Amino acid sequence: MEIPNHIAIILDGNGRWAKKQNKARTYGHKIGMQNIDEIAKEASNQGIKYLSVFTFSTENWNRSSDEINFLMTMPEIMFNENRIEFYKRNNIKIIWIGRKNIMPRETISFLEKAMFETKNCDGMILTILMDYGSQWEIDTALKVNSIKSYEELRAKMSTNFLPNVDLLIRTGQEKRLSNFLLLQSSYAELLFLDVFWPEFTNQNLIDSIEDYSKRNRRFGGVINEKN
Ligand code: IPE
Ligand code: MG
Repeated sequence: MEIPNHIAIILDGNGRWAKKQNKARTYGHKIGMQNIDEIAKEASNQGIKYLSVFTFSTENWNRSSDEINFLMTMPEIMFNENRIEFYKRNNIKIIWIGRKNIMPRETISFLEKAMFETKNCDGMILTILMDYGSQWEIDTALKVNSIKSYEELRAKMSTNFLPNVDLLIRTGQEKRLSNFLLLQSSYAELLFLDVFWPEFTNQNLIDSIEDYSKRNRRFGGVINEKN
């Protein structure tokens, strides 16, 4: 089976999932963020080399301060000592990409600690995109005056270590890209799922990989007939 090298996930639907069971939106975020490690482990077991997850966008600052404050504590929950040990055991390297000057210092310190602690892992790379937006990323890279071509632009972007996205999954029923890895997804296969992120299971991931394996990727050409 042909598996994607790089899966990117727009994890959406935390709030609606919580509301469905009369819980606060923040409860949905907690369960949703806790779901990332299990899915990351499964992705790694499936042989995925890069998993990139969108946990907070440059536009999410438009939410209520209560919700934002809660979301800012997420790295602490996601990357406590136990969780970092879990990632190390699974040889998963964590990288955080996002604006470095707006989130609270403490939030950033948990992300940096997770990166430091897993820096020698050489298995799957789990990229956390937090306070990230494609427009910010491109704007920042464009400040380098020497850029004259698309390739040079890509080389100066914060995600220059990431290969192009093969499979982009968005949970939670919406069908849009929301300023996430736009250039990197130029030829990504898109998969929009109704399931809300906190209820996204390992089986959903396996099904998504299988769906991808049946796609006929042509990159503008006419090659590669499948069955
Ligand atoms: C996604 O869930 C998580 C973040 C954007 C932080 P939402 O919070 O967008 O959940 P819905 O879309 O309101 O259900
Ligand atoms: Mg949403």
